[in-house]
Amino acid sequence: MTDLRRLLSQALSSALDAACPDHPVAAPTVGPCQDPRFGDYQSNAAILAAAALKRPPRELAEAVVGALKAESLCAKVEVAGPGFINFHLLPFRIAALLSEMADDPCCGIPPAEKPKRIVVDFSSPNTAKAMHVGHIRSTFLGDALARIARAVGHEVITDNHLGDWGTQFGMLIHGYRRFLDREAEKKDPVTEFERLYRLVSAQAEAEASTREAARRELAALHAGDPENLRIWKEIADLSFTEFEKTYRRLGVRFDHHLGESFYNPQLPGVVEELCRLGIAEESEGAVCIFFRNDPALKDVAPMIVRKKDGAFLYATTDLATVRHRVREWKAEEMLYVTDARQQLHFKQVFSAAARWAAAPGNTLLPSLDARPPALRHIVFGTILGADKKPIKTRTGNPIKLTDLLDEAESRALGMIEERNPELTPSARPAAARAIGIGAVKYADLSQNRNLDYVFDWKKLLALQGNTAPYLIYAYVRIRSIFRQDGAAEAATEALETTSVLSHETELALAKKLIQFGDAVHSVLDDCRPHLLANYLYDLATRFSRFYEACPVLKAPEPERAARLFLCGLTARTLRRGLDLLGIETIEEM
Ligand code: ARG
Repeated sequence: MTDLRRLLSQALSSALDAACPDHPVAAPTVGPCQDPRFGDYQSNAAILAAAALKRPPRELAEAVVGALKAESLCAKVEVAGPGFINFHLLPFRIAALLSEMADDPCCGIPPAEKPKRIVVDFSSPNTAKAMHVGHIRSTFLGDALARIARAVGHEVITDNHLGDWGTQFGMLIHGYRRFLDREAEKKDPVTEFERLYRLVSAQAEAEASTREAARRELAALHAGDPENLRIWKEIADLSFTEFEKTYRRLGVRFDHHLGESFYNPQLPGVVEELCRLGIAEESEGAVCIFFRNDPALKDVAPMIVRKKDGAFLYATTDLATVRHRVREWKAEEMLYVTDARQQLHFKQVFSAAARWAAAPGNTLLPSLDARPPALRHIVFGTILGADKKPIKTRTGNPIKLTDLLDEAESRALGMIEERNPELTPSARPAAARAIGIGAVKYADLSQNRNLDYVFDWKKLLALQGNTAPYLIYAYVRIRSIFRQDGAAEAATEALETTSVLSHETELALAKKLIQFGDAVHSVLDDCRPHLLANYLYDLATRFSRFYEACPVLKAPEPERAARLFLCGLTARTLRRGLDLLGIETIEEM
């Protein structure tokens, strides 16, 4: 598929060279115009070059446009405002790009210039606790980012870093031995484990003997006591089976589930090496990493990698995890998708890992000349209730993810039955699942991840506005056109390169369609799936405008074929785009 932005950028680069040979703009960026009245694509390259050279920007922009050779792509190129260069595409070029896109198995998504091997670390719930709304954003964001990175050709490894070796096991094992209700465990293991945990922690707060008992159980587990290991494994396995049900329901897939326990045997070696390399040191009986030379971290407490009593920590495990992913998986980049409360943890881990990778004789990198991995923390804000506080159940507990998904599906079912009583009963559950779960996912993914947002059933299930039901409905509506006689065949014919896109709404839709690849790529600049969501919403809105203004099946040829073609490509793009966000489409609703 022709990479239009690259062609424009190349043309611009040559023009810059010709107009002012001493300019420093290596690869001029060209992006879609925010306001379509000004053009289709825009660049600020002349402004940047002028600033660097201390020349008047508009004058330089005019000179660049004068030297620009883009007649084969653009009907018109003009200078606007302080020196922006605006490109207006030739309509037949747009038509040609649409035909290419229709033939492209990748839906017009150009491959990444430098494919990388990326690990996405997301979801990562803790054993013996139900997944709750706190895991929503990590799970949805991580899954969407993994799908999108794969779609542009990166090699993606998804890893669920389960919290399966934490201090909670002292209390859990103690509770299991004393108070386990076998029947309850069989029926709903995680709820039973939560009950045990609450029970024991309440007791531990009241009495020292319980605290001591839990501590001993944990120490025995860490020392490899066979019975404690058996109990641990039972709890971990049963919890995992529950998590798996939720992942299946959500359509989320992991390549690995290497939880904290997997790294446990490596931790003594990691700490020993960090000490030997001078990265960690003893301090008051513990082993710590100080960040004396890191301006961002030098004033906070050091990071402990081994406690006084010999126990290892979350941070130690994360360092071992970095090494495993680099050495065994050849990871070049890692994305850690967690909430903002772990910001300091990851800053410290990343800083320590960078020093580790730079130390001669380290075992983090597979070879001397290997490059250290790029480590990125993908943070996100909080989901709020109607009261603008972190969302809770009426009794003040965190909302369980399964309960939330159940409610989403049943609300969606109600909506479907009300809207379309004719829908065959057998099609309803699948539709309710796609719409209900899609709506919850989309409400999350359509928000800038750094912001908090208010969870509101009415809004997220609305058929109007920037919601999954609106987008899915747009898709369904197009698909229904193709169930009419003769429509399907017409749409598969490639669009004639002679311009048949004459109506203003057709052109607006067409121009949006050819930006799909850009929208997908833009997500990865800063791991922001909402940019793709915004794109899809805009696409669906433009489709509506077109569909209201232009008859399709009743139009004369060649308009009819061209419009059916636009419909078909819009449906396909919506479907692919939603799929990249992890959202299913349906054929009827
Ligand atoms: N289990 C952790 C939690 O629930 C998240 C783990 C994130 N990943 C990591 N490599 N530390 O908060």
